[in-house]
Amino acid sequence: NTLIALSKAMPKTELHLHIEGTFEPEQMFAIAQRNQVALKYDSVEALIAAYQFTNLQDFLDLYYQGMSVLLHEEDFYDLTMAYLTKVHSENVVHVEIFFDPQGHLSRDVSFDVQIKGIYRALQDAKQQWGMTSKLIMSFLRHLSEESAFETLALAKPYLKWIDGVGLDSSELGHPPEKFLRVFQACKALGLKVTAHAGEEGPPEYVWQAIEDIGVDRIDHGNRALEDNNLICTIQQRNLTLTVCPLSNLKLCVVDDMKDHPITRMLALGLKATVNSDDPAYFGGYMNDNYASLIQHTGINLAQLYQLAKNGITGSWMTRAQQSVHL
Ligand code: ADE
Ligand code: ZN
Repeated sequence: NTLIALSKAMPKTELHLHIEGTFEPEQMFAIAQRNQVALKYDSVEALIAAYQFTNLQDFLDLYYQGMSVLLHEEDFYDLTMAYLTKVHSENVVHVEIFFDPQGHLSRDVSFDVQIKGIYRALQDAKQQWGMTSKLIMSFLRHLSEESAFETLALAKPYLKWIDGVGLDSSELGHPPEKFLRVFQACKALGLKVTAHAGEEGPPEYVWQAIEDIGVDRIDHGNRALEDNNLICTIQQRNLTLTVCPLSNLKLCVVDDMKDHPITRMLALGLKATVNSDDPAYFGGYMNDNYASLIQHTGINLAQLYQLAKNGITGSWMTRAQQSVHL
């Protein structure tokens, strides 16, 4: 298939990626063993068999279990380096990755250990391949505003390594406005802001992310399509949507890849991008996401090119850095 070959060859960016969601079962078992931590599953096969999700929470339950074997700086380095090596082979030239500090702080793994391991891998990728990156600290929305503020305080010594903040985990019942003051504090520190919105949550949550929080982009945004005024607002503000096709399928945000809304988003003039979210859990990395769109939707070459271009112009690189890839 020519389109698949072309999509593999295109230089791409990844703007929606949870580093803890790149934890492949084999690596999870290896790190569990070296840290002498027990996993709930006794084989890679048994673990993979559990990757059958009917909604976001089903997945999150396994995601937090999986990351619980990460204890040392080396673990965070190895996890991040394995991901970067993989996407380097897929012609991904720039990544903006999330990490979930609270998912590790709750297990007494310090902020320092986490960020030092992740950041060192990002630097090595820059040195080895010229791959550029941004690091986004994400707040867990099922936890309190106070917990988010505590996390921000721990991040203060590392602000030179952190480009932005995000909002993830269980969306329903945890609207963006719950974190309004934390995001105001983050902005005052010069951090970029994004938030998961409209994955499972209603259009109202996307409105809050835009109007109350003032996000620089929107992660997912699928359900924004239910509200015409919201569509107009996203168009007018030229907000990037970090869309995740295979994630949407695995978490039943879409029932069938042939009905994925990404081509509709493009037709509406929305700045959609392709991303892998949690590739170790959802059945594929960047190129698999493109391949699935090509195989199941009527997407054409111009649209594929537009998606990749949106990934560059929607990134947090400077214009000068973007222009290298355009
Ligand atoms: N954490 C990791 N992946 C996520 C997703 N797709 N939605 C919300 N929280 C997440
Ligand atoms: Zn996500």
